[in-house]
Amino acid sequence: MAENSVSLPAGRGDWALADGVTYLNHGSFGPSPRAVQAVREQWSQRLNANPMDFYLRQFDGALEDAARRLGQWIGVDHRDLVFVDNATVAMNVVAESLPLEAGDEILLNDHEYGAVFRIWRSVCDRVGAKIVSPTLGRGDGDAEPRRFEQPEDISGPILAAITPRTKLIVISHITSPTAINFPVEEVCRQARQLGIPVCIDGPHAIAMLKVNLRQIDCDFYCASLHKWLSAPFGSGFLYVRRNWQSKLKPHLTSWGRSLGGSPPVWQDSLNWLGTRDPAPFLSVPAAIDFLERVGLETFQQQTHDLARYARQKLEPILGRAATIPDTADWYGSMIAIPLRVDASRKARPNAIHPLQQALWDQYRIETLVTECHGHRYLRVSCHLYNTADEVDVLCDAVKGLVDLTA
Ligand SMILES: Cc1ncc(COP(=O)(O)O)c(C=O)c1O
Repeated sequence: MAENSVSLPAGRGDWALADGVTYLNHGSFGPSPRAVQAVREQWSQRLNANPMDFYLRQFDGALEDAARRLGQWIGVDHRDLVFVDNATVAMNVVAESLPLEAGDEILLNDHEYGAVFRIWRSVCDRVGAKIVSPTLGRGDGDAEPRRFEQPEDISGPILAAITPRTKLIVISHITSPTAINFPVEEVCRQARQLGIPVCIDGPHAIAMLKVNLRQIDCDFYCASLHKWLSAPFGSGFLYVRRNWQSKLKPHLTSWGRSLGGSPPVWQDSLNWLGTRDPAPFLSVPAAIDFLERVGLETFQQQTHDLARYARQKLEPILGRAATIPDTADWYGSMIAIPLRVDASRKARPNAIHPLQQALWDQYRIETLVTECHGHRYLRVSCHLYNTADEVDVLCDAVKGLVDLTA
């Protein structure tokens, strides 16, 4: 494989972002550095050079090597991991595998990702189970976004919503609409004492935090690696605690075994889902190498500092404060600031918020306006290729669009 080079300090030149675009939404879709794209391309070439040789004689070993590297990096035995396309696939597999009966409850708090709600609503509706969704944070009703002062503002309402019918707690490691680091380790610890399994939805946490799955000790962990790790699009993983592995049901059915004749493993039904290019999975070690050359702590510090700069500049412009304390244990490389409440602005399901649209149309800035418990947030993501100048450009643009900040 080619040398996975990175120019230090890493910056925009290491990515192939389009000229003229200010890309402040790595949190939704994180492009890979050129070095990682090159490795991905080499794997695809190896496949195309002799697909028979690749799938029958190279694939199993290469996949295991990639999983081993990932496992070492996130503190878990690679034999407890399986590569999947993304966190959505991982969550679907968990939802298909959990035995559920009428009246059972799945606990999903109100900051969880919309598609994750849909996945669980679908399996719950099938059997007559239900979703229990506690509201998190402190606040009076819904007129203002709820605020967080201590981790118990998150773990408290979740744990208080447990009933004898609770079959699973689903919790984000870092939330999508509000970009908050959730105290997953504490929730897992307390849930374990009650014998309730926990599934962590973790796509934002990989690289944004130093994740150690052994320490977190959850039952399932679903992640996409094409977010903060900047691995190729179509790379994610599912961690499954040993006692669940034999119960796992794939979301798609194929051969359920290795084509190369390797001894059976629980991952078989997910490793082979019909013919596809596994280059994104096999390039995950290159993405880890890239970040390690930068230094994980350097990455975290630099991107948090920039997110903090964005927070401090945007709060006065938007006239609203972020809902979390200004410390690195509450947020990392991404910050969400509430927009003003405007009762006259009608909710238009699926519509792109006018502020997000105008930032793109008028300024070629990519950001995201999110929604959570009826409030909207401007979410800004900061990666190594972003600069304070870009945040300044965003802030000037938002000032010019102040009529749309509700
Ligand atoms: C919290 C959370 N969960 C799940 C997902 C789904 O990730 P993917 O689209 O990579 O499957 C996202 C994507 O933004 C997310 O933010």
